[in-house]
Amino acid sequence: MAGREQRTSEGVAVSARVWLLLGPGLEQDRTKGELSEAFCSAFGSASVVYSRDLVLGVEGGALTLATVDGRRVVPPAVVYARLSTPRLSTDREVTLLRHLEAMGSALLNPIESVLSCVNKFWHLQHLVLAGLPVPDTRTYVDAPLAAVIAERLPEPCVVKAVRGNRGERVFLAATAEVLRDVHGSLRDDVPVVLQEYVSFSHGRDLRVVVVDGSVVAALVRTSSDGNMKSNVHQGGSCTPCLGRYPGGEELAVRAAQALGLVVAGVDLLFTEDESFTICEVNANVSWREEMSTVAPAIVGACQARLTTGH
Ligand SMILES: Nc1ncnc2c1ncn2[C@@H]1O[C@H](COP(=O)(O)OP(=O)(O)O)[C@@H](O)[C@H]1O
Ligand SMILES: [Mg+2]
Repeated sequence: MAGREQRTSEGVAVSARVWLLLGPGLEQDRTKGELSEAFCSAFGSASVVYSRDLVLGVEGGALTLATVDGRRVVPPAVVYARLSTPRLSTDREVTLLRHLEAMGSALLNPIESVLSCVNKFWHLQHLVLAGLPVPDTRTYVDAPLAAVIAERLPEPCVVKAVRGNRGERVFLAATAEVLRDVHGSLRDDVPVVLQEYVSFSHGRDLRVVVVDGSVVAALVRTSSDGNMKSNVHQGGSCTPCLGRYPGGEELAVRAAQALGLVVAGVDLLFTEDESFTICEVNANVSWREEMSTVAPAIVGACQARLTTGH
């Protein structure tokens, strides 16, 4: 942000009314570049803001926001925050979101929704309460994993760290014995979920991008090496399919709504009855170049909140 905003004689950094807020640990990926360009052309170059440039305060009984070089920052009316799923921290990024909200900014994706989506079990709790289909899943607090595995483990079983993305901390354990063998080697920084394996969807899922209650892109992702995981980062390929699975698209819209997300990437698993069950909902969705409808839809969602003031 430094150097991009106008300065006034009082040393005030006059920021944009709408921010694309980029949190720590985000890679310099294509999506981030595309979004930055879209925000710059819609809302001006000061609309792309990095959390590393901001200092938060309470001073003289008021909330304050400044740049690291001490200039006052005017809180924006609307913020779309891109935050890294693996490293999102309540003490860092969420503190900033809370501060902006307290200063009157409207967050496109609310704090509670973002938090729910970075934990693979939290978001299942919401989806189940909304009556939406998800695979049977269990997790634990501090019960020993060995004991949890010993009790009625479905075989095969999908194992996922509650915090993770890109398929990096997900695997299929063919048998309970395999899992018993490897469980001691799993990182234990966060619990895992043990999930029913949806075999009909092996190596395939439906990714639907929802913005402001509408489907703006859909694609079938397919693993190219026989692996269960269809993530692009695991070598999966993508076939655009907007409109081909209306039932899946409708389910994705309901999932985003249940979680309160304005921008969501919903992953659906195919089921034998030609229907879908929800695999996961991502608050920090990325997309490919050919999915040219996503960035304008996000800009449009920000514009709509500027004009209506909600
Ligand atoms: N229960 C399941 N049954 C079958 N395949 C699954 C299941 N859960 C996940 N997968 C596959 O693994 C991929 C990664 O799982 P996911 O929960 O989306 O984790 P990540 O956040 O790492 O992408 C999914 O896109 C899907 O292809
Ligand atoms: Mg996923």
